[in-house]
Amino acid sequence: MQPTLHQLKVFETAARHGSFTRAAEELYLTQPTVSIQIKQLSKTVGFPLFEKLGKQLYLTEVGNRLFTTCQSIFEELDQFEMIVSDLQGMTQGKLHLATVTTCKYFVPRLLGNFCDQYPGIDISLKITNHLQLEKRMMENRDDLYILSHPPQHIDLKVQPVIKNPLVVVAPPSHPLVGQKNIDISALNNQRFIMREPGSGTRHAVQALFNKHKVNVEIKLELGSNEAIKQAIAGGLGISVLSRHSLNGREYTDLAILDVEHFPIEQQWSVAYLSGKHLSVVAETFLHYLVSVTDHAEMPWMHFK
Ligand code: PGA
Repeated sequence: MQPTLHQLKVFETAARHGSFTRAAEELYLTQPTVSIQIKQLSKTVGFPLFEKLGKQLYLTEVGNRLFTTCQSIFEELDQFEMIVSDLQGMTQGKLHLATVTTCKYFVPRLLGNFCDQYPGIDISLKITNHLQLEKRMMENRDDLYILSHPPQHIDLKVQPVIKNPLVVVAPPSHPLVGQKNIDISALNNQRFIMREPGSGTRHAVQALFNKHKVNVEIKLELGSNEAIKQAIAGGLGISVLSRHSLNGREYTDLAILDVEHFPIEQQWSVAYLSGKHLSVVAETFLHYLVSVTDHAEMPWMHFK
């Protein structure tokens, strides 16, 4: 009996995550389905592929070999798919894009226009934080990445696209609202809502606070900019957010504080792995992205 491609995909996903549950989530399957597929696959192979020590799932030696084999099989298949869509030109194909969380305020809009121009193209958009994006780069999971501070230790081709100013956001009732040029030391002991570890925004905020010896009182850590906005509005504290996350709509429940050294001027860039052969689709999107963002500000960035 031969392993099916589906079984290999399920196995590769579970091995990559070290978890059946997360593989099930990624593949939109149930956890028992993942477990059955892997059981059948190890029966076909004739060896166990995973072992469980305590709560942790490990690949066996055979499992490890199979994982490497699967990765090259799927990479080859991706290449093949790319050749076919290149032959078909821009009428069909898939774009794998991954961005940091703050980009979700502008990337989907751009994708909308892009898809109108090229309706045959399917897009997979992964939105996650900076650290997770780095991991995806190292696993060569996507065509293009959009983030601030592209990692130095990965060989990348990088092109700046759009500015990402980080601003201090408070509820309108906060005593510092309306004051001009607030000394950064005024943030000392403020109740603060911080992004999760691994977030690029958090990294930038911590670097600035360390530099100016600011000690905020971290009340809450949240992995979502939207949740942070709700928490600020609910009076849990202040935070630092990308100005894009306050995207031009009227916010009566949030205010930007005029604190010295802010906005922290970040720059988003589009990046791809240096050795990567970009598909026609990815190349076209790259040019599209650079051309439409080739001006200082996006229209929805104005927020007072
Ligand atoms: P993040 O984004 O906080 O979602 O990691 C940071 C960035 O702009 O690179």
